[in-house]
Amino acid sequence: MAAGLGTRMKSNRAKVLHKLDGRPIVSHVCKVALALKPKGVFVIVGHQAEEVRAVIEKDFAAAKDQLAFVHQREQRGTGDAVMAAETNLAGENRTVLILSGDVPLVRAQTLTKLLEEHLSARAACTILSVRLENPTGYGRMIRDDAGGFAKIVEQKDATDDERQVREINTGIYCFESAKLVAALARIKPNNKQGEYYLTDVPAILKSDGDQVAIHLHNDAREVSGVNTRAELAEFENLVRRNTIRRLMLEDGVTFVDPSHTYVSSEATVGRDTIIQPNVHIQGKSVIGEACEIHQGSRVTDSRIGDRVIIKDHCVIVDSEIANDCAVGPFAHLRMNAVMEERSVVGNFVEVKKSRIGRGTKSMHLTYLGDATIGEETNIGAGTVTCNYDGKDKHPTIIEDHVRIGSDTMLIAPVRVGHGSVTGAGSVVTEDVPPNTLVAGVPAKVKKKLKG
Ligand code: UD1
Ligand code: CA
Repeated sequence: MAAGLGTRMKSNRAKVLHKLDGRPIVSHVCKVALALKPKGVFVIVGHQAEEVRAVIEKDFAAAKDQLAFVHQREQRGTGDAVMAAETNLAGENRTVLILSGDVPLVRAQTLTKLLEEHLSARAACTILSVRLENPTGYGRMIRDDAGGFAKIVEQKDATDDERQVREINTGIYCFESAKLVAALARIKPNNKQGEYYLTDVPAILKSDGDQVAIHLHNDAREVSGVNTRAELAEFENLVRRNTIRRLMLEDGVTFVDPSHTYVSSEATVGRDTIIQPNVHIQGKSVIGEACEIHQGSRVTDSRIGDRVIIKDHCVIVDSEIANDCAVGPFAHLRMNAVMEERSVVGNFVEVKKSRIGRGTKSMHLTYLGDATIGEETNIGAGTVTCNYDGKDKHPTIIEDHVRIGSDTMLIAPVRVGHGSVTGAGSVVTEDVPPNTLVAGVPAKVKKKLKG
């Protein structure tokens, strides 16, 4: 169920689109749903349906055959949301697991247990519940004298006595689809919110003599919903602490200040890598062993080899850095920048969609865009690949063992041959043959160098 706006977020954006651990809340729920390998996953969308649908289709492109979207036209409550999926539930009886789009941390293991218990009890419905210190805001689980299920009462409809109950409905349930569909037709919006409550269904089943079971879970956080931004921040903190703890204890990563370091749970970091404060490692980044990442750097969806040093305040996005390289301080790699082994990119160097060959250095104040640079080449300070003519982007090719003089402008498309040298301040408008010194504006051949 992901159709609600999430009023308590005080946002123009649907709650399930807010990000936790770098991904929309609803993506966490879809991920766990797909992990159970069900026959199908139906995502009920309504508020900002197109956006919700788009993020899920993007995040789960590989699973698109298992995913379908159901449109809930008006958000008239959780019961109405499930009713919107009625045609998908009709026909042969199946076991349906209902998840809330705003409960992002629930684990597949917990849901598997719930399903097993549901099936072995032959229940029409099994509700996942938990006890909370502070149950305010949640639907309360009211039990009968024998300790079995009696009903669920929402906070707003509860009596003072009922509000004392600390056991709450997590909003996660198993239902037998035939019973669910039949009971949904009978719920009425006669409550304080004027909504169709899914939580009224279990009591209807029970009154029909069907079995309603409760599975009491022991980890409150895991099955709690995000309702406010304050809760979202708490969840973020919790996920982050768990990730960093796992990296320290299981993977041997050093964090100089764990509480001020931000690592996505989907990233991996190798043994003996040291991460300084205020580093962000985002997305599915892979960091090798024995690296150093200095303060203030951000690595997003990138692959970093072993023994790489990333000095302070670098931004590395969608890029790849091989073993024994050094980057920064203040370097920017983006759009599939590739650094081969032992290459160095220094301060105030931007590398976009370019490949830097083994052992090549570009130490200062340089822009390399759409460039392919060979091995053991040196790029002087202030070099610019002038790759854009105002309309199109053009490539620059610099072969092996080249020395590009300081402040060289390479007017692309252009190629500098193997072993050649450009003088400081050259504006290279034509291809430079191998083993040739060029200089000037525009650069002219000065002499042939020994090969
Ligand atoms: C719901 C439960 C409550 C439970 C709590 C656990 C009901 C009536 N109450 O309350 O017992 O303790 O979850 O977190 O079910 N949604 C739709 N369409 C709608 C309304 C909601 O898709 O018309 C979706 C929301 O996007 C959200 C989920 O259903 O993902 C839960 O809705 P929400 O409004 O947050 O329910 P709660 O008030 O938290
Ligand atoms: Ca909720």
